[in-house]
Amino acid sequence: MADIACINGSFMDLADAVVPIEDRGYQFADGVYEVIVAHGGVPFLLDEHLARLQRSADGIGLGLDCATLGLDDLIRDGIARCGYQDVMIYMQITRGIASREHAYAANMTPNLVMTFKRKPIIAPALRETGIDLETVADTRWVHCSIKSIALLANIMIKNAAKQRGFFDAIILTADYEVLETSCANVFIVSGGTLITPPADTRILHGITRGHLLESARNANIPCEERSISKTELLSADEVFITSSSIDVLPARRVDDQPIGGGKPGPLGKRLLECFPKSAMPANTHGSVTA
Ligand code: PDD
Repeated sequence: MADIACINGSFMDLADAVVPIEDRGYQFADGVYEVIVAHGGVPFLLDEHLARLQRSADGIGLGLDCATLGLDDLIRDGIARCGYQDVMIYMQITRGIASREHAYAANMTPNLVMTFKRKPIIAPALRETGIDLETVADTRWVHCSIKSIALLANIMIKNAAKQRGFFDAIILTADYEVLETSCANVFIVSGGTLITPPADTRILHGITRGHLLESARNANIPCEERSISKTELLSADEVFITSSSIDVLPARRVDDQPIGGGKPGPLGKRLLECFPKSAMPANTHGSVTA
């Protein structure tokens, strides 16, 4: 078993994988990405991730038909080659290599890079106790539904939250409406209804978010996609965040306000059942991720 990479279809050890300095991903963050997990060797919600990758590629004008890249086969091949049961797959497509100039030529050849690593496990204690979140102002760009590799604002938000002792930060609009966290979508439960902000350009249309909503609707749980005020957030019965790497992670506190009496609530726990279980027990490898 080994961490591996794939550059434009060629597989190699992760340590041997290099990209040219003049790749526009390196110089301008000119690219898009996906994070996909596999459980028991099977990629989860792969079609949905590949469809979003195409939308992101279209969103930055890559002029690429992702179907021609054979991504499905490459991903399955990479999972088999790395040998892990639970895999964290990172995939990015950049506009390609050119002499550094802001404007780009129409006929560039995109570069596809993937890595396959063992998926870190969320420490069970964190799921049981819940996480602490803070609220912060939005300092990101205006095209947040594009899964761009330009994540400087997001990493600054996440890092500042961690330095202040929080797991992550919930980003608010100037009107104190909830958007998402630095790297996950946000849900609240209020009076038995599951509520999440609408999938507009101000948030990433999380694949986990979509799966959770669909699963909840199938289970006849009332769901609303609508704006959530900060006041509503702080008085919610439950708050949880979702992403491919964490599935569903409940909050016990937002700012200095305990949520649900300071303990994860029942709906978040129940919805976690809609996700595949990791093949490995938690204490055999890596711990918390975000
Ligand atoms: N992040 N919102 C943001 C800003 C994200 O970066 C992510 C995912 C999500 C959740 O999307 P999904 O459910 O499709 O994973 C929402 C990934 C995991 C990352 O950047 O590592």
